[in-house]
Amino acid sequence: MDLRFDGKTIIVTGGGSGIGAATAKELATSGATVIVADLDPANAEDITKTITAKDGKAHAFTVDVAKADDVEAMVAFAVKKTGALHGIVNNAGIGGPSAATGSYDLDAWRKVIDINLSGVFYGMRFAIPEIEKAGGGAVVNVASILGSVGFAGSSPYVSAKHGVLGATKNAALEHAAAGVRVNAVGPGFIHTPMVSNALDAATLELLEGEHALNRLGQPEEVAALIVFLLSDRASFITGSYHLVDGGYTAH
Ligand code: NAI
Repeated sequence: MDLRFDGKTIIVTGGGSGIGAATAKELATSGATVIVADLDPANAEDITKTITAKDGKAHAFTVDVAKADDVEAMVAFAVKKTGALHGIVNNAGIGGPSAATGSYDLDAWRKVIDINLSGVFYGMRFAIPEIEKAGGGAVVNVASILGSVGFAGSSPYVSAKHGVLGATKNAALEHAAAGVRVNAVGPGFIHTPMVSNALDAATLELLEGEHALNRLGQPEEVAALIVFLLSDRASFITGSYHLVDGGYTAH
């Protein structure tokens, strides 16, 4: 049992940036054929080219995970292009605006839930039957520390990430017999465009201090956990939530 993925196809949604890009690159280095799926075609293409330039195997696909039809087409693309699907990382997500629950914009609520929660469900809904057909495999859903604790101003994000944990447990129970393991990861604050575009330097410094390791994480530190959970090394791990948070939730 090892960390190799030779002959296996894995979809990474939100694969064009941050945690998804780091995961796509590490999977390709480990032998997988990666479907780099993203709303932003240029980002998806860019990461795909980075992988193939190093003799890795990758294909770009443009998807809006909030649209079930798009997600169904993404899974069909993966199977048509490579013959079978062995795993998916449901990673695409957005932060949403910051406001208290009592004044949260209704359209913004729906958008965050559609992408961060329904998007994860659609990924499982369409990928799991194909993973079963391939004889089994693994799903990793990217939740957050905010899947288990609150964060003022981020009601839909926190709600969606808590929901991802429930959807993960359910899918794990339902598909274990067919050889599909389903897990969630809970990153602390990670240096990615999502965080650096949304928060100013003072807030970032404050957040660093909230992690026992007194810093933000790097996308590669999350990718390492995701890739482990996808691999055969994690063969007895399913239905659970795995933190990679520098000690954020330890206090
Ligand atoms: P990022 O902003 O660097 O990358 C997100 C990617 O998702 C982008 O390439 C974007 O184009 C894509 N995307 C956005 N909406 C999409 C949609 N509707 N359909 C398909 N793709 C879409 O963000 P980052 O930080 O890498 O986040 C990845 C995941 O990790 C998200 O689910 C996020 O909630 C989660 N996360 C991030 C943390 C952080 O501190 N950066 C902490 C905990 C969780």
